[in-house]
Amino acid sequence: MGAVHRLATPDDATGLFEIRRKAILELAPQGMPAGEAKAWATKLTLAGMAQKLREFEIWVAELDGVAAGWAAIRGDTLEGLYTAPEFAGRGVGTALLEMLERRMRGSGVDAVRAEASSNARAFYLRRGYLMSGPQTPKGAWPIAKQLR
Ligand SMILES: CC(C)(COP(=O)(O)OP(=O)(O)OC[C@H]1O[C@@H](n2cnc3c(N)ncnc32)[C@H](O)[C@@H]1OP(=O)(O)O)[C@@H](O)C(=O)NCCC(=O)NCCS
Repeated sequence: MGAVHRLATPDDATGLFEIRRKAILELAPQGMPAGEAKAWATKLTLAGMAQKLREFEIWVAELDGVAAGWAAIRGDTLEGLYTAPEFAGRGVGTALLEMLERRMRGSGVDAVRAEASSNARAFYLRRGYLMSGPQTPKGAWPIAKQLR
């Protein structure tokens, strides 16, 4: 059965922090050096996660009531997408992405923008995103997808 999507609340901070940490440490090294993944994973603190919950619109994907992944948007920008490793490869990330693209389209956004990490770039390119600029100094890849 598909995931249920709900808006995150401040109480989700610890759970979403852990999903992000595990997703980066366990999944990202399939497409980037493990040291880089470790540096990325530790860049965000729990306080930083709580701040993200205040700044971004964050959606949680639940499978049987268990948080399996989450994604953040602000305006026309996808600010993050993470799937807990134990739920990887089951379409959780794709379904969150598609749901957020539909929401953005519905609120008048013409094109969704994101900065893909090198491990996830192919994931986005296979889902209709195109490269939209040179690699950033932090090593991310600007990408965009036309919604209309
Ligand atoms: C990118 C990410 C969100 C995908 O989540 P997901 O729920 O596994 O995605 P889906 O099941 O919808 O699709 C799985 C895709 O990831 C690939 N994949 C990567 N790692 C995988 C794993 N451990 N198990 C299964 N599939 C994996 C599959 O090949 C598949 O790609 P394809 O369908 O384009 O061929 C997840 O791998 C993740 O959290 N990665 C670490 C954090 C990250 O890079 N986030 C993006 C930041 S820009």
